[in-house]
Amino acid sequence: MARLSLKREQNKNGPFFVDTSCIECGTCYWMAPNTFKSSEGKSAVYSQPQNSTEEEEALKALFSCPTFSIGSSEKKVESYFPFPFGEPEDLVFLTGYHSEKSFGATSYFIQRKDGNILIDSPRYLKKMATKLEKKGGLRFQYLTHRDDIGDTDSYWKHFQTQRIIHQDDATREDLRKYEIQLKGNDSFSLDDDLEIIPVPGHTKGSSVLLFKNKYLFTGDHLAYSKKLQQLIAFKNHCWYNFEEQIKSMEKLLQLQFEYVLPGHGAPFHSKQMKKELKKCIDWMKA
Ligand code: SF4
Ligand SMILES: [Fe+2]
Repeated sequence: MARLSLKREQNKNGPFFVDTSCIECGTCYWMAPNTFKSSEGKSAVYSQPQNSTEEEEALKALFSCPTFSIGSSEKKVESYFPFPFGEPEDLVFLTGYHSEKSFGATSYFIQRKDGNILIDSPRYLKKMATKLEKKGGLRFQYLTHRDDIGDTDSYWKHFQTQRIIHQDDATREDLRKYEIQLKGNDSFSLDDDLEIIPVPGHTKGSSVLLFKNKYLFTGDHLAYSKKLQQLIAFKNHCWYNFEEQIKSMEKLLQLQFEYVLPGHGAPFHSKQMKKELKKCIDWMKA
């Protein structure tokens, strides 16, 4: 947990605080935008939660912070992850407990009658595994790309899942042992409601997962910028080829989806996603 002795002086007084161990992954900025803000290169509380919604958001950030840098003197601090996201009947969840090994990337969980799936990996904690057990365990672990593997193998040992990665991102011996290796550029149908689309660019083996033609899990291929108020790609963090990434982005125009669920940055919802995507592609080309 965060240490009071390391509390940053930039915090506003009150129950919540950020300590000096923050790595500025940005998670708390989008999860609790009314409470946390960047100040001199790290997060700080710029306004203490003013109501129960803001307090809940601040607690979500506390349980998602990859470095346990957020503290609270609130007595009722207890974890309520995984946290429902999107439309309740679709059973999509934010897992919380982001891992420092993937620079705090967000991971997601989908509860399905044909087998649950974990998308990228949260920190492994026995209490998280127990919570997932209560929701029916895990059948698949899908990795958007090699950067967000985190504690995948710990969950695999616990649940004996099928791990999925594109072979172009299976750059280490341990990743080449994953049960399902995607190849080439063709889409792969994992089940009736789950399709994986290779999107080389950020890394050569990046891919995205489409669920129910509604939710697109994008890893570091596609994200939303609150600052620019539009969908973006990370040109300064493109490890393979940005021109390829533009071509991969154009491929997504063929898909139907309403939600973009990225590894970094805030999830984004729009009923006019094609228009948003075209704007992003024009921005990438410019
Ligand atoms: S979530 Fe944690 S590490 Fe990330 S910016 Fe906030 S305090 Fe810093
Ligand atoms: Fe990445």
